[in-house]
Amino acid sequence: MSGLLGFNTFINPNLTRICNPNTRYPFPHRTSTNLCLNNHHHCIINATHLSSSSNKALIFRRFSSMATASPSPSTEESKPFSVLFVCLGNICRSPAAEAVFRNLVEKRGLASKFRIDSAGTIGYHEGDKADPRMRAASKNRGIEVTSISRPIKPSDFRDFDLILAMDLQNREDIMNAYEKWRFKEPLPPDAPNKVKLMCSYCKTHSEREVPDPYYGGAKGFEKVLDLLEDACESLLDSIVRSQNTSTSAST
Ligand code: 4NP
Repeated sequence: MSGLLGFNTFINPNLTRICNPNTRYPFPHRTSTNLCLNNHHHCIINATHLSSSSNKALIFRRFSSMATASPSPSTEESKPFSVLFVCLGNICRSPAAEAVFRNLVEKRGLASKFRIDSAGTIGYHEGDKADPRMRAASKNRGIEVTSISRPIKPSDFRDFDLILAMDLQNREDIMNAYEKWRFKEPLPPDAPNKVKLMCSYCKTHSEREVPDPYYGGAKGFEKVLDLLEDACESLLDSIVRSQNTSTSAST
């Protein structure tokens, strides 16, 4: 399924932090380094990334091209599959997603096959450890959250095979950042297709988004982990399945 997703953006080129007029967070204004989005400018993007069948196609293409397009398939095949998890602040949901996914990958002995990272659509918490509530809830499940917050950057659209947004607003902010940055430096034209909603991988939960737990209580952090464990399991399954499919197709 593909379609057009319309949204309105105004991009102030002097600003690099992403904030949305609908976002409820009272961030202090750092006007020299903010990217503000509002309703003055109309922008349409292709939204082929919305369906889970396109998720499979994307992953398959990644491994297929590794097997067929390179003059040195063995080198390309050993290139890790790279996954970037993205939320707003990169201190709650995406660091937990990174940790849950890494934990699964390590348990299956696949660490060398993956590059795993996380980022935020804002740089407000840059350099910070993950929120202590998120670290504690994860630790209770045997998962260490160790990442340090950083904002998403243009090269992420080149460097990562898959970019997982925690909620719809994150996805819109990622797309808007891409739209802004692609005029300043070369970015892959198909990069928007790399952007997926985390919950599109959930098997046992019907939620569409991983809800922001920051202003809530302990239950919110547990819910985040429930969703992430569900999504990460089938995300990893689908990547591995696609890799195996493309490997056997190329031999
Ligand atoms: P995250 O959660 O996007 O899951 O990291 C948040 C972290 C910080 C804030 C909001 C959400 N904040 O308002 O600072």
